[in-house]
Amino acid sequence: MNHDDRGLATRLVHGRGPNPLGAVATPVFDTASFAMADMAAHRRTVEAPSVHDYYSRVHNPTVAALESTLASIESAPRALAFTSGMAAITTAMLALGRRGGHFIASDQLFVNSREWLAHDLPDFGCEVTFVDLTNLKALDAAFRPATRAVFFEEFTNPLLDVLDIEAIVAIAHDHDALAVVDNTFATPVLFRPLELGADIVIHSATKYLAGHGRVLAGALAGSGPVMDSIALLRRRLGTIITPHNAAAVIEGLSTLELRVDRASATALRLAELADAHGATSTVNYPGLPGAPGHELAYRLTGGHRFGGMLSFTLRRPARKAVVYDAFTQFVRATSLGDVVSLVDSVEDPDVLRLSVGVESPDDLLTDLEKALNAAL
Ligand SMILES: Cc1ncc(COP(=O)(O)O)c(C=O)c1O
Repeated sequence: MNHDDRGLATRLVHGRGPNPLGAVATPVFDTASFAMADMAAHRRTVEAPSVHDYYSRVHNPTVAALESTLASIESAPRALAFTSGMAAITTAMLALGRRGGHFIASDQLFVNSREWLAHDLPDFGCEVTFVDLTNLKALDAAFRPATRAVFFEEFTNPLLDVLDIEAIVAIAHDHDALAVVDNTFATPVLFRPLELGADIVIHSATKYLAGHGRVLAGALAGSGPVMDSIALLRRRLGTIITPHNAAAVIEGLSTLELRVDRASATALRLAELADAHGATSTVNYPGLPGAPGHELAYRLTGGHRFGGMLSFTLRRPARKAVVYDAFTQFVRATSLGDVVSLVDSVEDPDVLRLSVGVESPDDLLTDLEKALNAAL
C-alpha cells in the first residue's frame, strides 16, 4: 500500500510530486527517446528499463507523473497508464492469462469487455466463465485450478448493480486467484477497491478521471510481481499512453473530487425525479434508498455520494427513441464521466443511460422531465 495519508483532493492535485525543473503544471515531454549521457547511463536503462527514461514506449516523465498520481489516489505501490481503458483491460488479461489461464467474469460488463472475454481471449488460449456475481455460491463453484482472476465492474454498466467487493475478494483469495475491479463508474472518489482487498483496479480514464472528454486513456493500479508482468507486456504491445494524453488526464484528475461531488448531488435529484415519474418502470441508481444495491453502496461509499451514473427503463419501451430525441441539454452521445451531461442509448432496447455532468442542476432536471413527459 501507498502510505500517503493526505486527503484525496490533495493527492489528486499533488500526487504527481514536484517537477524537478520547478514547473507548476506538468510539462509534456513530447519526445520518442531520451539522450544517454554515456555508456554507463545506457547500461542502467538496459538493466532497469522502466525506471530510466530512454524510450517513450517504456517510460516517459509525463506518463510517470500521471502514474504517480494514480498510485497515490488508489493507495497502490504502482500504477500504469494506457492508451485506453480497453488497452488496460486487454493488456492485463493477456498478462494474467498466459499459458492457458481461466478467468471468471461478471455476467454484467461493458459490451467491449464482455466481447473481448467471450470471443477474443479464448483465441489466445484462455478460458472464461461468466457468472452472476450477486450469487456468491455460483462464484465459489466456478473456480478451477487454472483460475487466475475474477473480473467485475463496480458499479455495473449500464444497470448500476452493486456487487459485494469484499465478499468476492475473499472468495477469489480462498482459491488463490486475483480480484480485478473495473472501477470506471465509481471512481476513487466513491471508494478504492484496493483498500477493500482487491488486487488490481482498472479504469477507463477516458471517463471520470480525465473528465473533459478530450482523450482516450486507461489506468491500472496494483502491487506485486503481476504489475511487472503487465508492464512488460505493455512495453511489448505498445499500449502505453502518449505523453500528451497523460498530461490531459493529469489536468482532469485535479478536479475529480469536485466533479464527482457535483455530479453525485445532481444525479440523486435526477434519479428521484425519474423514480417519481409515470413514464419509468425502473430507475437504476444506487443512491436511491429503495434501490436493491443501496445498502451495499452505502457501506462502500460511506453514504455521502453515489456517483453521476444512472439508467432507467421506460414503461412503454416503444417510446425510447422519442425520449432520446427529446433531450436538449443532455447531449446524445456514448461515453460517460464527462463535464457535459450525456444520454446514451445502450444495447438493452428498454434502457436509457444518463451520465450527469456539472451543468446547473435545475437545467438538467427540466430537461429530463421534458424528455420523460414525451413518453407518457
Ligand atoms: C466500465 C467501462 N470499462 C471500460 C471501458 C473502455 O474504456 P475505453 O473506451 O477508454 O477503452 C468503458 C468504456 O465505455 C467502460 O464503460
